[in-house]
Amino acid sequence: MNILVINGSPKHNGKISAIIKEILKGGAPSDQIEIIQLTNLTNLHHCTGCMNCQRTGNCIIRDDIVSIETAIKKSDMLILATPTHWGNMSGLMLSVFERLFGFLLEERQSGFPKARNAAGKKAILVTACSTPWPFSWIFNQSRSCFGRLYEICKYSGIKICGTFVLAGTAKMDEIPNKYLHKACKLGTKLFSIR
Ligand SMILES: Cc1cc2nc3c(=O)[nH]c(=O)nc-3n(C[C@H](O)[C@H](O)[C@H](O)COP(=O)(O)O)c2cc1C
Repeated sequence: MNILVINGSPKHNGKISAIIKEILKGGAPSDQIEIIQLTNLTNLHHCTGCMNCQRTGNCIIRDDIVSIETAIKKSDMLILATPTHWGNMSGLMLSVFERLFGFLLEERQSGFPKARNAAGKKAILVTACSTPWPFSWIFNQSRSCFGRLYEICKYSGIKICGTFVLAGTAKMDEIPNKYLHKACKLGTKLFSIR
């Protein structure tokens, strides 16, 4: 199973990176893991809104988005990990999904969009937010972040098979062991899915 991690945190060693590490520890085969840390991509433009991607099936700006498209095609399971920023995914992550619009989805005359390139793949959604549980959920922080990712996955034909929320990070210098164990257990469960 090829696993692609897309880390949308602006931090290399933040909470999201720590949770990703634990999920992978749960049993992901090390030779089948690719991690894309979006902040490492130095040649990544924003979407210009030209909509050419609908005609060509991918963004016409062939910068670092190419490596993301290639990695998505190769993967069986995606780990989409982003901190909650303003009750959404990080700007970095959203910018990448804008660039992937025509790659993941074809808008058709009928009005019913058709998934392309990632249909049938599985995904795990991961977020961290400073708002503590249950307010993170009740006040649409982590919930709203996942809401956007759910929609993208739904229209792209990607099946979500697990989620992980680390809430209340404002009060965490270190992530308590119970959450690290929980992340590891989620990995064990999900990487055994065939
Ligand atoms: C620009 C920005 C916006 C944020 N917006 C929210 C928010 O809307 N709700 C929330 O609970 N936390 C918010 N946070 C806090 C982060 O989600 C939290 O610090 C998270 O643990 C960061 O993960 P990281 O260390 O992997 O980057 C925000 C942080 C930043 C930098």
